[in-house]
Amino acid sequence: MAETKKKLYPDSKVELTPFLARDYDRLLDLLSGGSYRRFIARAINDLGLRPDDSVLDLGCGTGRNASLMLAYLGSGGKITGLDLLPEMKEQFERRFSREPRAAFHQQRIDIPFNLEQKFDLAFISFVLHGFPQEVRKIILENVVRHLKPGGRLAILDYAEFKLSDKPFIFRWVFKNFECAYALDFIGFDWKKILEGSGFQVEAEKFYFRNYLRLLKAKLRS
Ligand SMILES: C[S@@+](CC[C@H](N)C(=O)[O-])C[C@H]1O[C@@H](n2cnc3c(N)ncnc32)[C@H](O)[C@@H]1O
Repeated sequence: MAETKKKLYPDSKVELTPFLARDYDRLLDLLSGGSYRRFIARAINDLGLRPDDSVLDLGCGTGRNASLMLAYLGSGGKITGLDLLPEMKEQFERRFSREPRAAFHQQRIDIPFNLEQKFDLAFISFVLHGFPQEVRKIILENVVRHLKPGGRLAILDYAEFKLSDKPFIFRWVFKNFECAYALDFIGFDWKKILEGSGFQVEAEKFYFRNYLRLLKAKLRS
């Protein structure tokens, strides 16, 4: 079972405090003036889910994304959400108390783990940027270990961009409110990293003036 109390990466903002975790969805809706709701519904639609997909949602949070994904899955599909926080476990399990296709495991994703099952799709949404690069590699290794042959990976996160090219207000907000690790995340060539980790990149979709991207890849056989 995961150690949940201590923040392993003090500069990370994806390791939420219990206060933020309890109100995560509401805060996101409030701060985005409701636009997050529309964006995430579009991004989940763009995943191209198949009815029988088994999905591993790494850093699943409250299960909001899982509930959107379930609408695309049939009775043979299922979603396994992983998150380290008990606050997320509580919200996820409450949301899906009558939904046999959704399961939660309290599990750190930044250390090697083995769930002893394999998935068609690994989804990681607004989590990967929040770690040091060597830890992101461990997360990718966890993904590779848990995908079926030919399995897919979808990363929804910041796109690659040069912060210095962006408007002052965006630069200020990004530097002062986003976690320090995101600053290097946006500078990496993620397609190249995925290709080097055994994936074939298949598609990318951009949102919010190209600040955000859904990057889709398939495990090479
Ligand atoms: C920014 S939130 C994103 C939540 C969700 N994926 C979404 O798109 O709404 C980051 C999530 O990752 C979880 N998280 C952070 N570090 C983690 C870790 N080391 N292992 C597992 N989950 C983690 C947090 O508890 C939180 O639920």
